[in-house]
Amino acid sequence: MASKYVIAGPASQGLAVQVANLLKVPVIETEYKKFPDGENYVRLNVEDDSIFKDSEMIIIQTADYPQNDHLWELLYLISIAKRVGASKIPVVVPYLAYSRQDKVFRPGEAISAKLILQLIESAGATEFITIDIHAPEVFADMKIPAHSLDPIPLLAENLKSRKLTKPVVISPDKGSRDRSAQFAKLIGAELVLFDKTRDRITGEIEMQGDVKLDGRDVAIADDIIATGGTMATALKIAKKGGAKKLFALCSHALLIGNAVFKMGSIGCEIIATNAVNSPMSIVSVAPLIADHFKKP
Ligand code: R5P
Repeated sequence: MASKYVIAGPASQGLAVQVANLLKVPVIETEYKKFPDGENYVRLNVEDDSIFKDSEMIIIQTADYPQNDHLWELLYLISIAKRVGASKIPVVVPYLAYSRQDKVFRPGEAISAKLILQLIESAGATEFITIDIHAPEVFADMKIPAHSLDPIPLLAENLKSRKLTKPVVISPDKGSRDRSAQFAKLIGAELVLFDKTRDRITGEIEMQGDVKLDGRDVAIADDIIATGGTMATALKIAKKGGAKKLFALCSHALLIGNAVFKMGSIGCEIIATNAVNSPMSIVSVAPLIADHFKKP
């Protein structure tokens, strides 16, 4: 019997297999369905669950859309691991849904991100791992170790493999300045700062940035592309300023609604990690996750 297993959550099957292969440990398939009344069901596809007693069960399950289903499946998987007697239950949630609701923005709101983390912890997780968390401050109240792994070097490696002309990295808002500075350094580009404001009620954004970018290639690296509004607005300004090739890199390609069209129609290429599955998720975070578990 193995002492370590990777459990492939329904939302991260490909990534879980990659991680298990890198760690050279068995990967366990999960069966899942939704009952006619909308309730979730999940089960480890094994004949005998006593094999997991005293083992380490690494659960990998992202929480993109439909996020509530994916979160319930995750909670069930953690509770199964606890029930079958795993000695360690590290939980990898490559994209943590609700991570942007990390504080009270308007009176009367819930701090959803913290509640989700509390649920994961109280279900039985012994460690929490995610990729590029929106705000690491959400980990502050956690009693188990929590880590946000940094995929920016992997994204930078991908972009560096292309021939870029006098590259410029644009930071679209205050929150992305550190990430953008790190990214610019890694690809050897100049850094340009834009300013974004978002209407908390309508979600509408406004952006200020005025640059001359004649013939230069422009990249933006953000944590999340959701509606694509942030990226498209910044890249339109860059294009107006004379930019040549446009790249939108992100850790989490949620690509809601017409986000792909919005960015594609201004001639931008999207490069994302497989923390969330999408046709643009070409950079695998499996080595990052596997390396975390290889550390002594
Ligand atoms: C915001 O603070 C985040 O870092 C992203 O910039 C934002 O979530 C992207 O959302 P959207 O694609 O809808 O503009």
